[in-house]
Amino acid sequence: MQRRQLLEVEATEPVGPYTLLRVERGGLDPGRPGQFFMLSPPGRVLPRPMSLCLAPPGELAFLIDPIGPGTRSLCELEAGDEIAVFGPLGNGFDLRVERPLLVGGGIGIAPLPYLAEALGSPPAVLGFRSEEHAEAAALLPQADVVVDPTLVTDCCLEGFDVLACGPEPMLHAVAALCPGAQLAWEAPMACGYGACYGCAVEIDGEWKRLCVEGPVLAA
Ligand SMILES: Cc1cc2nc3c(=O)[nH]c(=O)nc-3n(C[C@H](O)[C@H](O)[C@H](O)COP(=O)(O)OP(=O)(O)OC[C@H]3O[C@@H](n4cnc5c(N)ncnc54)[C@H](O)[C@@H]3O)c2cc1C
Ligand code: FES
Repeated sequence: MQRRQLLEVEATEPVGPYTLLRVERGGLDPGRPGQFFMLSPPGRVLPRPMSLCLAPPGELAFLIDPIGPGTRSLCELEAGDEIAVFGPLGNGFDLRVERPLLVGGGIGIAPLPYLAEALGSPPAVLGFRSEEHAEAAALLPQADVVVDPTLVTDCCLEGFDVLACGPEPMLHAVAALCPGAQLAWEAPMACGYGACYGCAVEIDGEWKRLCVEGPVLAA
């Protein structure tokens, strides 16, 4: 059940160029892998959507790429600070898969550690743009890691039930190779629960709200 709660920050830890933001769980349900939470950065009007990365007992952890003012202020939080968290939201991954292979690109690794835990540590392929970004692969120790110019689509993905999260060009390339893949997409989101239409994307000629129909969609 989704809820909004003010939670205390337990720690912020650097993971390569990203930050792992660990908050107390409070009464929030961690939800299904691939679902997301709206986190309200201090001093910002709009919350920012973040996938759940890890859910150790009593805690929720988010891996954040500081690309703009909202994500930067989330990364600057310190232990003891409070933050409003709303979720879990959206549709996560369907876990009824026979031969799972997790595929992540860049910050798209964020939902995969929690997904790997739910699926019993299946094989994974991760792609990063630099060795520094690839330090995040420590969150998914069983993964094969490639760094640009090698791409995740240079690895063998066929014959698996692919569950992927990453930049849009990577998701299109994965969909072309694996038409049965489950893909976690991103779009800027203002509300996260279907009210603002800020996340509407055109899919097969129809406008869909990614926060309600997604973020995980069949390829
Ligand atoms: C369902 C979902 C889950 C997400 N999970 C994570 C996560 O686990 N970790 C993480 O670091 N980020 C995640 N994101 C992306 C994150 O929400 C955005 O990076 C963040 O909202 C940007 O806020 P900002 O204020 O820092 O930057 P802004 O100033 O808002 O944006 C900086 C730049 O990024 C673009 N942008 C912003 N948001 C998005 C978006 N969602 N998709 C594409 N372009 C965007 C803007 O147009 C602008 O060019 C997720 C997004 C969605 C929709
Ligand atoms: S973010 Fe408001 S409708 Fe999707």
